[in-house]
Amino acid sequence: MRYAIKPLPFTPSKLSGLSEKLLASHYENNYGGAIRRLNAIRGELARLDPAAAPIYAWNGLKLEELIAANSAVLHEIYFDSLGPAADPPADLAAAIARDFGGFAAWRDEFMAMGRALGGGSGWVVLAWSAREERFVNQRASDHTQFLAEGRPILALDMYEHAYHMDYGARTPAYVEAFMRNIDWTKVAQRWRAPAGRAAGVASPKIPVIAPEAFLERFATADGAIILDVRRPPAFTAGADMLRGAVWRNPERLMHYKGRLRPNPQKRKEPEP
Ligand SMILES: [Fe+2]
Repeated sequence: MRYAIKPLPFTPSKLSGLSEKLLASHYENNYGGAIRRLNAIRGELARLDPAAAPIYAWNGLKLEELIAANSAVLHEIYFDSLGPAADPPADLAAAIARDFGGFAAWRDEFMAMGRALGGGSGWVVLAWSAREERFVNQRASDHTQFLAEGRPILALDMYEHAYHMDYGARTPAYVEAFMRNIDWTKVAQRWRAPAGRAAGVASPKIPVIAPEAFLERFATADGAIILDVRRPPAFTAGADMLRGAVWRNPERLMHYKGRLRPNPQKRKEPEP
């Protein structure tokens, strides 16, 4: 089964201190790239003959599969933790405070770990340790270094692709911006989710569908019109778009909504 990309669970233009261009590039190139890589690797693995494939093929592909899978999951937690900022619910704040000697103490440690990864790369993760029955802040310098029985509920991406476009080498400012945009409501949902349930995206207010599933269901339907309504900066920064889609500026919807016609051949229609 193919690993499906999840929709971006927030409106990029609503975040503070993280540009739409940076977020679009991060989502499409790095998160999307991890998923495309994961699916390609699993395709290669499915073709391996267990009796005949060499050891290096198993070792190489299984390691790359782990890297891509962890990258995909951590990016989903990262993006799902961002949104219009919301304070932590009282029970989560109390649990974190209990384990770190205060919520501010947790925050200070988490941010210091993020700043310490500046100039390098990796993740800082707030995870629930089932073994110790407490929260831990965990550092990883690549996608494979994670607490074996930990359940990540908040992930700070310290790879350069997550901030360099906006902040250059000013990693402390990026860490501040990330902390400013945390939607703790969704972090709390991950904490409360039963073990084993996917680190999911909160229920969206509008119906959403992954691009692959959308194309399967609608791309060949008679009279289908696929509109790409990313805002201009995100569209310009994007490397690709759905097959058969046409771009239209979402801010001009009222000007063209009554004049839409199927036109699967054209990539970008002129503004009316
Ligand atoms: Fe990333």
